[in-house]
Amino acid sequence: MKLLPTFKSTILMIPSLSFKMTAAELMYKPFRRYPALFADNFDKSWLHKDFVQISDAFEKPAKNYKDAIPDDLLRKEMDGVYSFNVFNDVFLQMFNEEINHFYDVSESENIPVKRPNSMNNYGVIVNEIGLRPMITAFQQTYLWPLSRHLFPVEASQFDNHHSFIVRYRAEEDLGLDMHTDDSDVTFNVCLGEEFTGATLSFCGMFGAVNHRQHRLTYHHEVGRAILHLGSRRHGADDIQSGRRSNLIVWNHNYAYRARGINSWDRDSQYEQEEGIPSPVCLSYTHDRDYEVYKELPEAAKKQKRKPWCPPPGASTKDIMLKVDYTYGARIVLLYMLC
Ligand SMILES: [Fe+2]
Repeated sequence: MKLLPTFKSTILMIPSLSFKMTAAELMYKPFRRYPALFADNFDKSWLHKDFVQISDAFEKPAKNYKDAIPDDLLRKEMDGVYSFNVFNDVFLQMFNEEINHFYDVSESENIPVKRPNSMNNYGVIVNEIGLRPMITAFQQTYLWPLSRHLFPVEASQFDNHHSFIVRYRAEEDLGLDMHTDDSDVTFNVCLGEEFTGATLSFCGMFGAVNHRQHRLTYHHEVGRAILHLGSRRHGADDIQSGRRSNLIVWNHNYAYRARGINSWDRDSQYEQEEGIPSPVCLSYTHDRDYEVYKELPEAAKKQKRKPWCPPPGASTKDIMLKVDYTYGARIVLLYMLC
């Protein structure tokens, strides 16, 4: 009898990858509030009961795991975008307290804080402060089985991750411009707190005819995660009030990347766009024709912009027909871009 492998029996841990302790990790180590968060383990008791049920489904061999996971536990937001409750209040309280404590100590002790990217001024790369082993344990034991079920090609294995906190509030960063991630599968969980606005908008896949067409606006819920491919265009909409923090894990699959599928050759892999881009899907960082549709925001004026999208020949001719003649200068600009 041929045995069906379970996900648990084929888990690939990452012993070959070793990471040097960073200066921030060394400096923060004496101040750690919850040592369990820095261990090479993710305690199952930290999972939301929904995710325990999802995870347990992968413990047993099955031809079709879909039958074992109720739709109300794993919500399909749209094709290729899924959400689920993942962490319980115990973990959220502990994790948030640790991160906030790190922010306080980093100020008082002058610990260098590495930001996730140049457009996020208040987040922190949690791998850099000692949380990598715990997140690796979570990724390999709990996140990967579900990811492989949902994205069999992109999540055939997880070899590494880039994990960070993003933080939005009215007097700080408001949101994040439309982009794709340097990630094969992105896990994004809301850690809190209370807020209005701050939704997450999804558009099409990179280079597809609908790359810049709006598909979904997702409303974050504390403790609930969303899972999607990194190559889907998305952006964090502005927060209206309060404060939102999310933990984001960019999962990397080296074998998938080695096949070159995700190399994102902008010119050769970009199809002719199917229509005028949705306003919410425009990126002031990446889009050459942004100003045809919108005024540049203040944030864009502070950037050294190198817009490239869409590549020459990929924008739809329909755009030119639908631009009002009162915007003559914009039409000229559009012709120049195309
Ligand atoms: Fe992203």
